[in-house]
Amino acid sequence: MKLRASALLTALLAGSLALTACGGGRGATETETTSSGASQSASQDAGGSEGFAADATIGVALPWLGTQNWMEAQTLFEQQLTEAGFKPLIQAADNKVPQQQQQIEAMIEQGAKVIVVGPIDGTQLGSVLGSAKDAGVTVIGYDRLIQNTDAVSGIVQFGSIRTGELQGQALLDGLAAEKGEPPYNIELFGGGPADPNAPDFFKGAMNVLQPKIDDGTLVVKSGQMDFTQAATQDWDNARAQARMDTLMSNYSGDEIDGVLSPNDGIARAIITSVKQAGQASVPVLTGLDAENESIVWIAKGDQYSTVGKPTELLVGKTVEIIKSLQAGQGMPEPDATANNGTIDVGLYQLDPVVITKANAKEVLANDAARLKLFEDNLS
Ligand code: BGC
Repeated sequence: MKLRASALLTALLAGSLALTACGGGRGATETETTSSGASQSASQDAGGSEGFAADATIGVALPWLGTQNWMEAQTLFEQQLTEAGFKPLIQAADNKVPQQQQQIEAMIEQGAKVIVVGPIDGTQLGSVLGSAKDAGVTVIGYDRLIQNTDAVSGIVQFGSIRTGELQGQALLDGLAAEKGEPPYNIELFGGGPADPNAPDFFKGAMNVLQPKIDDGTLVVKSGQMDFTQAATQDWDNARAQARMDTLMSNYSGDEIDGVLSPNDGIARAIITSVKQAGQASVPVLTGLDAENESIVWIAKGDQYSTVGKPTELLVGKTVEIIKSLQAGQGMPEPDATANNGTIDVGLYQLDPVVITKANAKEVLANDAARLKLFEDNLS
């Protein structure tokens, strides 16, 4: 899979314009960086000014390989770090926190100069990352926030609140386009509660959906509207499908019109559940990751939308920061900061973009593999 930057940038720009139009913003915990704030020093002192060897070992600790984005990250970090002259040391932890802690310890022992971490649980790495910091290793958070530690120098991610807002808006747009006049019956799903992205995706979506629940446009028949009720332990598609099976008992004489789903795997599980319950029309679904299988489902009209957050751009941004550290130039200026419970940490942010059947050709114009999947399956 190769994505070319120009088309993606166009798509991402369109995404951020759309967001501005719908009044979205960054998360409550995120603030714009000031010229000389504490946050900046927190994000810039690490890495030092000396740099390190151009062929240094760089650790990458991924949480699991259960969704396409993490598999892509594994491949792309291997490629991009090797191309940049580094020695990549990449591990994935199968969603088990002790396993991830051990993998990070091993990276420190093997002399990694930078460790990139996509945490399983944002709050469980304080001690091992403290050891990394003591050993002079720079830690960069990847995709997910790392919480309750001062041993992180920056986080590279797609804005999580913004991602949720795009999902909420896509659900509203899809309902208006496909389900006639309101009110609409909807249900809400969140991701894995240990992943700090999951509550933020949900919060962003509710920024858009709550006013429409309050004015009666949207009806959540189950009444399950808190993140804790909607969350899906470990981002496990099977658990989401089982919850949807149960929720469908509320819709025996009625149809469900739409469902907020935090990612593509869970979206497909929900659609499968609704079909198995015998509902003829497919509800409007949101998603995340532009997974290959969901691109096919969107082309066929089974999944209404996804949100693209191209892994190639996120890995590219991370490798750019590692090169800056290697050259002794420290952490680049962040786009914003977020309080992680201990410090204000610098955020290096990219813009996610909504993909539907209507705009997929444009958004995927230079992503040959996904574009082909879309075109081959159009119906
Ligand atoms: C990532 C998503 C992914 C999910 C489950 C989140 O933190 O941002 O892209 O679908 O984890 O793996």
